[in-house]
Amino acid sequence: MVLEAIKKRQSVRSYLSKEIPGELLQQVLEAGRVAPSACNNQPWKFIVVRDENLKERLVSACKNQKFVGEASVVIVGCAINPSYKMGNGEYSYTIDLAIALEHMSLQAAALGLGTCWIGAFYQNQVKEILEIPDDISVVALMPLGFPQALSTKRGRKALSEIICYDKYKV
Ligand SMILES: Cc1cc2nc3c(=O)[nH]c(=O)nc-3n(C[C@H](O)[C@H](O)[C@H](O)COP(=O)(O)O)c2cc1C
Repeated sequence: MVLEAIKKRQSVRSYLSKEIPGELLQQVLEAGRVAPSACNNQPWKFIVVRDENLKERLVSACKNQKFVGEASVVIVGCAINPSYKMGNGEYSYTIDLAIALEHMSLQAAALGLGTCWIGAFYQNQVKEILEIPDDISVVALMPLGFPQALSTKRGRKALSEIICYDKYKV
């Protein structure tokens, strides 16, 4: 079941101008809410942008990726404690936010909705448009809507190329 949604998900860059029913949106958000995070800190806030004017302004903040403005909503993943480090000395916020957003993306796919990860954006512009405080870090944006067109599926490396057993092998 999970693998089915994982394989169904693909980046959607063209959306119908059709609003997402509230019940479906809630299911997508719920999938993010239950995501794991380092120390269960849940160091996130998700802004669900529905306002047409704000979405349009996000298009230019996302380097003119037009489809960002087409989607019914844009979910903006914000890290509320970006200075927290895990026991290994690494920051956890990008990992935490990525897991939660990918949960949402997979639930969206299972519901027949489309998403696309957006990492190409101007941090300062997104913050200004959405009135996000300085100490918060925007990790990624995710348009969510009914897909209009699906592109050809992107390929992946073979398992044999990315897995090794017991010890690192080049
Ligand atoms: C962290 C991250 C940032 C990304 N940023 C963008 C982006 O700004 N614009 C875009 O069109 N796609 C973006 N993508 C989507 C990738 O291009 C896409 O996931 C990859 O090509 C594989 O295709 P698929 O998602 O259809 O399987 C991003 C993906 C990730 C994981």
